[in-house]
Amino acid sequence: MNNEKIITMNDLKSNDPSYLETIFSIANGHFGVRASDPIASSDSAGTIVNGFYEMSEINYGEKAYGYAENNQTIVNLPDIRAIKIFDCDDQEFSRSELKSATLDMNTGLSTSIYDVFNPDNQAIELTLQAVLQQTDTHVLGLRYTIKAIDYTEKIKIIKHLDINNDTDETDDPRKSRVLHTVNYEKSEPDNFCEILTAKTQKSQMSIDLAICAQESLEKTVELNQMVSFDIIGLVGDINTKLEVVKTSFSEILADSKSFWHEFWHNSEVNISGDDGLNQAIHYNLFQLTSSTGRDGKTNIPAKGLSGTGYEGHYFWDTEMYMSPFFAYTNPEIARELILYRYSILSESKKRAQELGVAEGALFAWRTINGSEASAYYQAGTAQYHIDADISYAIDRYYKVTADTEFIKKYGFEIVLETARFWHSFGSYNKKGFCFFDVTGPDEYTAIVNNNYYTNRMAKFNMEFAVKLIDKFPDQAKKLGVTHDEYVSLSAAADKVYLPYSEEKQINEQDDSAFEKPIWPFEDTPKSNYPLLLHYHPLNIYRYQVNKQADTLLADFLFDDISRNQLKREYDYYEKITTHDSSLSRSIFSALAARIGLKKKAYGYFMDTVKTDLIDLQKNTADGLHVANLGGSWLTIVMGFGGISIQNSMLTIKNSLPDEWNGLSIRIRFQGRLLKIKYHHSETIIEILDGEPLDIIVDGGKKRIK
Ligand code: BGC
Repeated sequence: MNNEKIITMNDLKSNDPSYLETIFSIANGHFGVRASDPIASSDSAGTIVNGFYEMSEINYGEKAYGYAENNQTIVNLPDIRAIKIFDCDDQEFSRSELKSATLDMNTGLSTSIYDVFNPDNQAIELTLQAVLQQTDTHVLGLRYTIKAIDYTEKIKIIKHLDINNDTDETDDPRKSRVLHTVNYEKSEPDNFCEILTAKTQKSQMSIDLAICAQESLEKTVELNQMVSFDIIGLVGDINTKLEVVKTSFSEILADSKSFWHEFWHNSEVNISGDDGLNQAIHYNLFQLTSSTGRDGKTNIPAKGLSGTGYEGHYFWDTEMYMSPFFAYTNPEIARELILYRYSILSESKKRAQELGVAEGALFAWRTINGSEASAYYQAGTAQYHIDADISYAIDRYYKVTADTEFIKKYGFEIVLETARFWHSFGSYNKKGFCFFDVTGPDEYTAIVNNNYYTNRMAKFNMEFAVKLIDKFPDQAKKLGVTHDEYVSLSAAADKVYLPYSEEKQINEQDDSAFEKPIWPFEDTPKSNYPLLLHYHPLNIYRYQVNKQADTLLADFLFDDISRNQLKREYDYYEKITTHDSSLSRSIFSALAARIGLKKKAYGYFMDTVKTDLIDLQKNTADGLHVANLGGSWLTIVMGFGGISIQNSMLTIKNSLPDEWNGLSIRIRFQGRLLKIKYHHSETIIEILDGEPLDIIVDGGKKRIK
């Protein structure tokens, strides 16, 4: 048994029940189950199905043309874990105390042990083990084991699906809104199974949830020995009638074990010299993978399937923070994530038109079904960079997998349509090809001209389209590319204006960034962070203050400026960054590792890797910070491990932190499985599976066999 792949309550600082529900939640890309107390009802308990949302009209005080019309809110479905237990006098065991909780990442098993009391204060012990099938993602196994403590007589166990999802309304934009338009219908095919159908009135979706027992959903037993009660939970596909499958808890557990075994074989990360860190990074990779839709129709909600925060929406988080991990370890998942974007391409073309951009496609900033769900366009739709982020992820996937067929068939069209968007959206002036009134990744600066990150990414996007046109001329023709368009696209890519301050000798976040005063950090009490909860946006916008990495993210991705400039830039932007977004620290860490700022790299990493395990942002109860889970891998592999692809060659630069004895990672590269071991004195690469490969290792070319 590998203890670095086990999380227990003792590893955590907080015992808040809704926080623990998130931490010990499990998911399989299709649905997630929060680790709620099965006896005490909790508002935040529930089952979350990837992509199952209800719509409601966005009510604007003042509305303007083209504003997002509808909210899409992921539905918190009934808690599948809940159970009722009665004593021989029909009194309910209604009070419970959580004694221990464990998540085993070797097997996917989440175990919680409770002391449960009847009104006479007599206790029994209830152990709930929950595990999800990973191959057929509709299946959940629940095993309830009950032992006498000081109550030893008969008990009655009743298992039903109860509808109890009353959450409070909130002003916190990171939380989910309350839904009143989901209807439920129950049917019992027989005594062993109960099916609950949830139907949304506005989005017109339906989903079946079922619970099945071997004999009956109710049973009365003597408690003179340990009693076990297995339930199979089933969650159907959206708008599809559920097929009740017959399986057992042990079969589900075996399936889960073999999935995670294979997963770790391909994706292992091992830090020698720090067990706590190993545990944290394993947790992050486990939960990131659990959160990820793998069917080409769904994606990765910002909070995964561990909570309803951010309403279950998919953001740029996927492409820039999460899909790098999949591209390098489980490329078939990275492929499905791109296919999801492909599935919403035509919706995105319509959106470009709505914004008055004649050509191309604009992906929604936040969405489930492809249409824009961001009511606050200044930090939503205006983040046009999402188009280029998606193209960047396609390029990464292509480089890592060399999957030419896929790129030709799907990737190319996305890259072309997004490049067309930039081409049509931008305009020339004396500075070059410019993009006006955009918001970059930093949400504390909005609607500016020539955001450096956006412009740099748009340049990349158009250049990539030009490369693909060269590579697939027939396909380009089919997609309507003309010679004139090709020439014009290449010229625009070439002429994209990138703001640079001669005075500071660094890239400037946007045209007016350095003209603004710096935020009064000294006068800002700690309790006023995150700023977004304490200051009007306009107050924040008129200062130099960053929520998250912006220009530095471009530096990280392109590595196209001198080390000296990079150091100056890092130093400048670090001073004005609050890291109020959990997407920030991983980039600061990875970049610091690249520059050789070892202490900083390590410090930021320590925060990112444990963001949820220490509840750093104080809102893990609403769900995991999934971008950051991916970000911590990015920091290790691309920061400390120095992995990149340069001139089509895999490149490794060892920047092992002084605090570690060694680091070992596994990645896939063009059909091979590689194991890379970093020591302070050397870097050793092994090909575990596949053909020999030339790699640039710490500056020199090596043939690895
Ligand atoms: C960040 C965005 C991110 C969103 C969802 C916000 O706080 O500023 O960059 O996409 O959270 O994770």
